[in-house]
Amino acid sequence: MIAADAAGMERAATALKAGELVAFPTETVYGLGADATNDKAVAAIYAAKDRPSFNPLIVHVTGRDAAARHAEFTPMADALAAKFWPGALSLVLPRRDDCSLSLLVSAGLDSVAIRVPAHPLAQDLLERAGCPVAAPSANRSGEVSPTTAEHVAHSFAGGAGGHALTILDGGPCRIGLESTVVHVEGDSATLLRPGGIAAEDIEAITGPLAHAVDDDHAPKSPGMLSRHYAPATPLRLNAEAARPGEALLGFGTAPADAARNLSPSGDLEEAAANLFAMLRALDDESHVSIAVMPIPKTGLGLAINDRLRRAATDAGGDT
Ligand code: TXA
Ligand code: MG
Repeated sequence: MIAADAAGMERAATALKAGELVAFPTETVYGLGADATNDKAVAAIYAAKDRPSFNPLIVHVTGRDAAARHAEFTPMADALAAKFWPGALSLVLPRRDDCSLSLLVSAGLDSVAIRVPAHPLAQDLLERAGCPVAAPSANRSGEVSPTTAEHVAHSFAGGAGGHALTILDGGPCRIGLESTVVHVEGDSATLLRPGGIAAEDIEAITGPLAHAVDDDHAPKSPGMLSRHYAPATPLRLNAEAARPGEALLGFGTAPADAARNLSPSGDLEEAAANLFAMLRALDDESHVSIAVMPIPKTGLGLAINDRLRRAATDAGGDT
């Protein structure tokens, strides 16, 4: 844990720029941050949280203009940003085609959640780091969100998935409840997660919100929300070799004719970092199908297998 004085802030920003994990205070809860443009740094977040599936992450930026470099703003999104940013509102918006964010922050969705935190230390850190920062709540999977640096330290007392973790101590969080997550599509808005800003206050701008919240805070009706990226090319899982016309997506020691390899050394974090980009690249090459070698079902391998199974089911798809 380090103090949030000038030296501490500089250390934390340097760690972020180097692709390391930094836990930092926001006005809602502490976030577990990493450079949102760095696939490996984002994979480290998932490894540290130890989740069995990829949940999309909130990207933190300094302001609306920084946000607009990554996501498409409609007039409604702009009205919400003008009213509630900086603050406890995360907007889920379409990713811009030319955005530099890791595909992993969106966990395979064509949208991205963006927030401008109001906490002065969060703002200072973003300024110093100069990159967008992906940050879920800084707790391990299954625990409640941390509102003090001590909570974070306790959560990761057993380590952060083998990664260095810098914890910036900024005292207790003012709101203590996660941000409200609103999905904006054109001129309609859907409440994905209730949070620090009351739904009524948002409805004053959007009109009645559609609701799409389940126990896991995950979008309930993907049809009306962003779509999961599913390759148009069929996927065959647990393949040892490619059949004629197939492209082999390797893991570990793979046959010489493998089209790509998620991680030649069999490193699950490297595989997670490469997953979405390699699936897209193979999909663009018009193969008969994509054969994926077996991925161990441990650690991040659980999330990778979960995502591959969905992609296999949705292939050709619209969901
Ligand atoms: O207050 C907060 O929001 C804190 C601080 C650190 O900013 N962050 C936070 O992140 O609570 P996390 O990862 O614990 O929760 C993110 C929520 C999840 O419910 C996730 O499903 C949703 O936002 N989310 C993120 N991106 C999304 C997307 N593209 N589409 C739909 N839901 C998304
Ligand atoms: Mg959380």
